Amino acid sequence: MSSSRTPDWSAAQYLKFEDERTRPARDLLAQVPVENPRAVVDIGCGPGNSTELLVARWPHASVSGIDTSPDMLAQARRRLPALRFEQADAGTWAPGAPVDVIFANAVFQWLPDHPVVLKRLVGLLSPGGALAVQMPDNMSEPSHVLMREVASEPAFAGKLARAARKPLPSFSAYYDLLMPVARRVDVWHTIYTHPLENAEAIVEWVKATGLKPFLDPLDDEERYRFLAVYTEKIRQAYPPALDEKVLLRFPRLFIVAQV
Ligand SMILES: C[S@@+](CC[C@H](N)C(=O)[O-])C[C@H]1O[C@@H](n2cnc3c(N)ncnc32)[C@H](O)[C@@H]1O
Repeated sequence: MSSSRTPDWSAAQYLKFEDERTRPARDLLAQVPVENPRAVVDIGCGPGNSTELLVARWPHASVSGIDTSPDMLAQARRRLPALRFEQADAGTWAPGAPVDVIFANAVFQWLPDHPVVLKRLVGLLSPGGALAVQMPDNMSEPSHVLMREVASEPAFAGKLARAARKPLPSFSAYYDLLMPVARRVDVWHTIYTHPLENAEAIVEWVKATGLKPFLDPLDDEERYRFLAVYTEKIRQAYPPALDEKVLLRFPRLFIVAQV
């Protein structure tokens, strides 16, 4: 998502659920079969939480990050001052020289034409290198179905007709896309189940990410009403568990392509 027309991402809002959001990055990294990379790039590095994992695994590599968001980049630079973070769009970014690992946790779902981009990125890897990608695959979950439901109400439909993201292609589409240009392609799903305090916590979670395109076009009054209706629907859809917490089911798609 370009940050030029829409309000910036908020690193503070995103980091409210840092542990939960970083877990898929750890799981993705654990499957990257590259032992001693020289150059590693974190695409959509956000506040640097995923970049920090890359530095910990490969302390001798040159690790850098790119992102479109000034707020996220500022946070990443504060967190990892020795690293290079640049403002660049994942859709058009290209390194000066081949890279050994291109890592992208929770960013490519924002680029509707990302399959073309992923294939191009595989072509930028050095021999033995890997592209590692994770994307939320949760468009059919109540958290996201209900955003679209509220957006279709007459009070919001005018402004939010194009807010919804398209569902991801199937896992086999990614396999068929990358197999011709890679030596090995590993595609899998993991469904996380995050116990959160209450329905409001689910809303706080999605505010930083999936709900952003629905809230950004609204004025303050509309945003207030949208959130009230959406929160009530979330409360109905996610009943409390025995300990009163709510369980946020969160399917994610993982891809590792090695050349
Ligand atoms: C959900 S955060 C992921 C942050 C981090 N990688 C992690 O593992 O938690 C998505 C990030 O992608 C960035 N982003 C969105 N569209 C982008 C694009 N077209 N190019 C580069 N970064 C983008 C956002 O600014 C945000 O920082």
